[in-house]
Amino acid sequence: MEIKERIEALRAELHRHNYNYYVKNAPEISDKEFDDKMRELQDLEQAHPEFYDENSPTMRVGSDLNKNFKQVAHQYPMLSLGNTYSEAEVADWYERTRRALNEEFEVCCEMKFDGTSISLTYEDGKLVRAVTRGDGEKGDDVTDNVKTIRSIPLVLPSGRDYPPSFEIRGEILMPWTVFEELNREKEAREEPLFANPRNAASGTLKLQNSSIVASRKLDAYLYYLLGAELPHDGHYENLQEAAQWGFKISKIMQKHQTLEEIFAFINHWDTERKSLPVATDGIVLKVNSLRQQRNLGFTAKSPRWAIAYKFQAEQALTRLNKVTYQVGRTGAITPVANLDPVQLSGTVVKRASLHNADIIEGLDLHIGDMVYVEKGGEIIPKITGVDKEARSFMLGEKVRFITTCPECGSKLIRYEGEAAYYCPNDTACPPQIKGKIEHFISRRAMNIDGLGPETVDQFYQLGLIHNVADLYDLTTYNFVGLDRMGEKSAENIIAGIAQSREVPFERVIFALGIRFVGETVAKKLAKSFVDIDELRQADFTRLVSIGEIGEKIAQSILTYFGNAANNELVERLKAAGLQFRRADEDLSDHTDKLAGQTIVISGVFRLHSRDEYKELIEKHGGKNAGSLSAKTSFVLAGENMGPAKLEKAQKLGIRIMNEDNFLKLLS
Ligand code: IVH
Repeated sequence: MEIKERIEALRAELHRHNYNYYVKNAPEISDKEFDDKMRELQDLEQAHPEFYDENSPTMRVGSDLNKNFKQVAHQYPMLSLGNTYSEAEVADWYERTRRALNEEFEVCCEMKFDGTSISLTYEDGKLVRAVTRGDGEKGDDVTDNVKTIRSIPLVLPSGRDYPPSFEIRGEILMPWTVFEELNREKEAREEPLFANPRNAASGTLKLQNSSIVASRKLDAYLYYLLGAELPHDGHYENLQEAAQWGFKISKIMQKHQTLEEIFAFINHWDTERKSLPVATDGIVLKVNSLRQQRNLGFTAKSPRWAIAYKFQAEQALTRLNKVTYQVGRTGAITPVANLDPVQLSGTVVKRASLHNADIIEGLDLHIGDMVYVEKGGEIIPKITGVDKEARSFMLGEKVRFITTCPECGSKLIRYEGEAAYYCPNDTACPPQIKGKIEHFISRRAMNIDGLGPETVDQFYQLGLIHNVADLYDLTTYNFVGLDRMGEKSAENIIAGIAQSREVPFERVIFALGIRFVGETVAKKLAKSFVDIDELRQADFTRLVSIGEIGEKIAQSILTYFGNAANNELVERLKAAGLQFRRADEDLSDHTDKLAGQTIVISGVFRLHSRDEYKELIEKHGGKNAGSLSAKTSFVLAGENMGPAKLEKAQKLGIRIMNEDNFLKLLS
């Protein structure tokens, strides 16, 4: 067979298997067979770039090219729905609709999915664009990320009667199981957790790196078809037709005519939804006939032909016994409500978050109060109110936020503009010390095998380690006779610690646990400073001149190195042989093609990120400049270069180069 035909056959076959697996839930071949075909296609495409297809099934694995999202105007604005919270409001809407139409009508009842909305445009059966809701008028073009979602067809099967051009809207969701797994991983890496699957889905969709999006296993349900030539007058019928074109449409959809039937649907799914694989937060009611929808029209914000009934977040009433306080790695204090155990959404709740001092004050909490606990979309339950009627004349003690650290007794402080209180004793407060050590050894930092939170706790209790530098003084001799510590595990730990001496500079900076210095900032610092001493000596102006380092981060770095204990620690780690110097760069791909040239970057790029272009300029001997002047040699311009810049460049007679020509220049 000709290569081109083989490629096309594989593409068609993989699109079909993909649909069977992700939309129909009925695979016809094994995972292994699927993977083999995918690999064959990947190899062929790589060897034959002339047969490139932007909708090939191989596009689903994503790419790690950075992209800034382009803003795109919606052809039809993306409106929201009016919300109701009671049967009475639903009855009002039904009555208003009945009077306005003055004829019989059907209401399509469906789930309100709690994810992030998306608008997909198909032309000639191909997905051409996926845009987020944005402000309703325009949104972000996230097509590359959406292509990684397996239940969204890239190419519609041939022989189906879909319109040549249409838009279909729906909700992108992270299934509960994927969400829970992701949060478990984040917890292990000590990263902040996603509060609910909705935030996780929208956060994922906005990631710059589509190969990470691909790994997050998002799903999608589509619920609204738009276009000039739709097959039927009924919304329900159109969606059933779209299911035939390969789209994933929820099976939970029913047409009803009376209010009684509508309420029965609502009440049934209020409990049944708990067994669904994705989050839902209500029921959407839509007048089914498109002709009737047009008659009813829109208000400024939402259609008159539809309404959302929102489920009550599940609530329970229980007694507040006491408030305890947890101290985190950064010293942040979290107040926790200790409650009489109570059943809520299938689990027993004993503790709930109280967030911060302002929330406690706002609730006017007293010990012994009967409080409302809610588990909305969030996993951690929260206190939302107090039943003040239930208070007896013997009011319990008012809850006042602590003023000293429950672990070390230091006086707490509050940073300007922040809601949380902090324990400032970061070198001697036990949970802060242990937290810092746990962060230091974690996978993305020094990645020390064999050590985990429990061992750290054990070593700390025994007085073996007080800070991260102590780790490098440990020998297997220290572990003799310790609980649950065989010879083998002791050796593993020592070997893991020894290996961490090779961890590169940027990760060592991250491992130090300087406030606000995450992985990205650490990388930036390692690029800007040759070694830790240069970083230590940098002043505020120098720090904020580095891209992406703002005043808050700069101040935090200065505070860190302003502390003698931290400097002593760094000295000991240096003596232990850690990498406190940037590795010598590989200079083989450096040239002097841009020597003596000063270049200004402007606009949004297709092929590389701005940072990558800045790096390229430096690699080839050029200089980056932030603003245009007579010294500028040329402007490297992407799309949407600012009009003021453009005008200035023209005035100064400076050449404007697009990215293709720029890359040609360097190749
Ligand atoms: S129809 C003109 N159907 O709820 C309105 N929306 O507040 C068209 N949503 O932005 C939307 N499930 O993100 C519709 N079955 C469903 C829905 C649904 C969830 C979301 C959607 C929309 C928001 C409205």
